[in-house]
Amino acid sequence: MRNNFEEAMYFRHACKLFDTTTPMKNEDLTFILEAGRLSPSSFGMEQWQFFVIRDKAMREAIQAVAWNQPQITTASELIAIGYKKNVRSTDGYIKSKFDKFHYPDALLEMYSQWVDPRSDEVLESWSAHQVYIACANMMTAAASIGIDSCPMEGFDRNAVEKIMGIDTDTYGIVLLVPFGYRVNEQPPLHRSELSELVTYL
Ligand SMILES: Cc1cc2nc3c(=O)[nH]c(=O)nc-3n(C[C@H](O)[C@H](O)[C@H](O)COP(=O)(O)O)c2cc1C
Repeated sequence: MRNNFEEAMYFRHACKLFDTTTPMKNEDLTFILEAGRLSPSSFGMEQWQFFVIRDKAMREAIQAVAWNQPQITTASELIAIGYKKNVRSTDGYIKSKFDKFHYPDALLEMYSQWVDPRSDEVLESWSAHQVYIACANMMTAAASIGIDSCPMEGFDRNAVEKIMGIDTDTYGIVLLVPFGYRVNEQPPLHRSELSELVTYL
């Protein structure tokens, strides 16, 4: 198991160009989406929505506002992970989570004390952070079955949200994640040594 995980970590790289001739199997897409679904989120509120963008014209329009990066249109699947904006305890979505999972009242109390007084800006940022955890798991899951990916923040967020036609009162998009098969060889991996990155206190 450890070897498989390590292999996946070394296989994954930020793939810049995907093979347009090799489609991904639906079951592989589901496997990747499952990794997102099973990811941890603060208070278990799953403040995310996975938008699978298959429309060709939509992809082309997104590429034009994403530094023209070819990953957007060459990937077999493109997933925009939306984060939930309204996360106060009074929000219908949040209430439904507490109801659905029968979380104890004490947790709801803690949630409302911790979350509700914060500003919209702070809460949006908090919610958006969750998306990165799902993204990381999805990319490693993909790598474990030989599928490439690229985490992408290089796009005009407002323009992408408009092109997608999503309800921006409800969702924001901070990450686009294309998946598919590499065309080019993987470049060398550049990482600092653990000795530089770890501080034991
Ligand atoms: C949050 C985030 C945003 C990124 N945005 C882009 C992007 O828009 N385009 C791109 O080609 N790579 C993007 N990258 C990829 C990084 O440049 C890449 O992960 C880093 O250089 C390390 O290379 P590696 O992933 O191949 O090991 C992003 C990575 C992260 C984590």
